[in-house]
Amino acid sequence: MTNEQRSKAGTPLVPGANLDGAATMRAAVQHRYGPPSVIEVSDVGLPLPGQGDVLVRVGAASVHPGDYFVMTGEPYMVRLVYGLRRPRHGIPGMDLAGVVVAVGKDVTALRPGDEVFGWSTAGALAEYACVPADNLVPVPANLSVVDAAAVATSAMTALQALRKIANVRPGQTVLVTGASGGVGSFAVQIAKAFGAEVTGVCSTRNIDLVRSLGADHVIDYTRTDFTRSENRYDVILDNVEAQPLAAVRRALTPTGTLIPNSGRGGRWFGPLGRIVKARVLSGFTRQLLLPFMSVGKRQDLLALAELLTAGQVRSVIDRTYPLDEAADALRYVGAGHTRGKVVITV
Ligand SMILES: NC(=O)c1ccc[n+]([C@@H]2O[C@H](COP(=O)([O-])OP(=O)(O)OC[C@H]3O[C@@H](n4cnc5c(N)ncnc54)[C@H](OP(=O)(O)O)[C@@H]3O)[C@@H](O)[C@H]2O)c1
Repeated sequence: MTNEQRSKAGTPLVPGANLDGAATMRAAVQHRYGPPSVIEVSDVGLPLPGQGDVLVRVGAASVHPGDYFVMTGEPYMVRLVYGLRRPRHGIPGMDLAGVVVAVGKDVTALRPGDEVFGWSTAGALAEYACVPADNLVPVPANLSVVDAAAVATSAMTALQALRKIANVRPGQTVLVTGASGGVGSFAVQIAKAFGAEVTGVCSTRNIDLVRSLGADHVIDYTRTDFTRSENRYDVILDNVEAQPLAAVRRALTPTGTLIPNSGRGGRWFGPLGRIVKARVLSGFTRQLLLPFMSVGKRQDLLALAELLTAGQVRSVIDRTYPLDEAADALRYVGAGHTRGKVVITV
C-alpha cells in the first residue's frame, strides 16, 4: 500500500507511532536543482521507516555548505550521488535533532520518546525524518535541541580531520583556517581538547569568537597572511584554501600535515583537481598533504557527545530560521560567511 492509499484508508502510516493522526507533514522540498528559490515549503506524505530506521519528529536541523552544493547540484559531480536530473530525495538537509516517534522492527537501541541527534540520508528540513538508527545517538542532557542539531557533519569532519587524518597529539601546533565557520569552530575546540596549541585564522569581526573557543593565538586574515609569517605548524586544517597549496606548505613544519578541506572549486568536479594535486605532491615531500572526505560514523558522534557533555566542545549558533524560511537559511550559508552554524527550527 502506498503512503497515499494508507492515508485515504485511515490506516496509521507508522504503526504504533503517536502522530496525532498526521498523514502528511510540512517539509522544505525541491523538485529540481538550482538556487535557493527552488525550495518551497509544502505538505508531503510522511516517510515510512524501514526495518532498521527510526522516525524522528524533527526539533531542529542545521545546514552547511554541503547542503548548498546538493541543492544547486553543483559541482555536477554531486548529481552522481544525489540524482542525475533532479534531487532523488527532494527534501534538503542532513543534520538534525529531535524525538523518536517510531522505530523499525530491527531497531533495539532506540525507543519512542528518546531524544536523539545525528544525520539523515534522506532529508532533514521537515517535521519528520526517517533516519537509519545507526546514524543517531542520544542528545547529551546539557544540550538544547538547536545545539544538538548543529553538530553532526561539521563536528564529525573536524574530529575525523584532526584525529584520524592528522593524529593530533598533545603539544603539537595546529592552525585552523575558517576558524569561525561550522567546521572550524568545532576544530578549534577539538584540537584544544586533544592538548594542541591552536591558532585560528578568521576575519576581524570573529576574533573574539575564535578566542572564546579556546584558540591560543588568533590571526586576522584581513591584516596578516599566515603563509608569510615565520611560524611553522605541525598540522594545518585549511577549511578555506584561500592561498595556493605551495604557499600553505611554507607554513608547515618539514614533516607537518596539511589537510586541504575546502569543498569549493570548479563547476564540474569541485575540489577534485586540488585533491589530486595534493595527493600527487605528497609523493615528493616529507610533508603529508591529506585531503579527505568525511564519513558519517556513529562512534565519532558518540565521541563528540562525550566532548559536548564534558563541556570541552560547544555548538556556536549564528542564526536560526523557521522551516518556512529554509531557502533564506541556505542562501545565507551559501554566501560563505557563517559564524558557527545555521539552524532551522521546526
Ligand atoms: N572534507 C569533507 O568531507 C568536508 C565536510 C564538511 C565540510 N567541508 C568543507 O569545509 C569547508 C568549510 O565548511 P564550513 O561548514 O566550516 O563553512 P562555513 O560555515 O561557511 O565557514 C567558513 C568560514 O570561513 C571564514 N572565512 C572566509 N574566508 C576566510 C579566509 N580567507 N581565512 C579564514 N577564514 C575565512 C568565513 O567567515 P568570514 O567570511 O566572515 O571571514 C566563515 O566563518 C567548506 O568548503 C566545506 O565544503 C568538507
